[in-house]
Amino acid sequence: MNNLEFNKIFAAILVAGIVAMLGGFVAELLVHPHALEKPAVFIESAEAGTAGGAPKVVLPDPILPLIADADIARGEKLSKACAACHSFDNGGANKVGPNLWGVVGRPKGAHSGFAYSDGMHAKGGDWGYEDLNQFLWKPKKFIDGTKMNYVGLKKPEDRAALIAWLRTLSSSPKALPSAAEIAKEAADLAPAEEAGAEEAEASPAESH
Ligand code: HEC
Repeated sequence: MNNLEFNKIFAAILVAGIVAMLGGFVAELLVHPHALEKPAVFIESAEAGTAGGAPKVVLPDPILPLIADADIARGEKLSKACAACHSFDNGGANKVGPNLWGVVGRPKGAHSGFAYSDGMHAKGGDWGYEDLNQFLWKPKKFIDGTKMNYVGLKKPEDRAALIAWLRTLSSSPKALPSAAEIAKEAADLAPAEEAGAEEAEASPAESH
């Protein structure tokens, strides 16, 4: 009798132990796939621009050498992608985004009556060509927490054409990129090990 009771208790403990072990095993199975999610995200960002090798900071192509000769009419066409959120005429209303008349060379986040994100204010400085290139390439990458929900323009020629058109929206358009600005952009956006090559590439453009 006593023995039987004891056996029951013993069996119960044994079963509890096995259940606990299985529980741990199952928990590990459940947790493990989570750990695998990290590399998946990593690949996504690496895929955006690194041609093999270790993941590194991905940067847009320099476009300053293209602006002087860019197709302004094409830039105006491309601005249709922006028009849902931006007006471009002098004195135009702010929409989802601020009015962009005269934006080239204007301080960031400075159009009156528009509530910019904290990220925009924190970025500071003027909208020079180099910053516009980076912002229009991937807005959220250039400005942390920007309110501009736009994926960005991948093609360097598109960004150059659009920026060249934006430049014309002013009563006194900003001067075209100088040789010094072109060289600076090339150096800033060159992958570390190719910095020398990129700089050499930029010099012919200086003769513009
Ligand atoms: C879905 C709406 C949306 C679209 C589409 C959009 N923008 Fe914006 N844009 C915004 C918002 C919102 C802001 C304000 C961002 C902030 O405060 O962080 C902004 C800000 C900007 C600024 C900074 C203006 C300033 O006064 O500092 C520029 C330049 C700009 N956008 C250009 C463009 C261009 C060019 C396109 C088209 C290729 C475009 N945007 C498409 C919503 C949009």
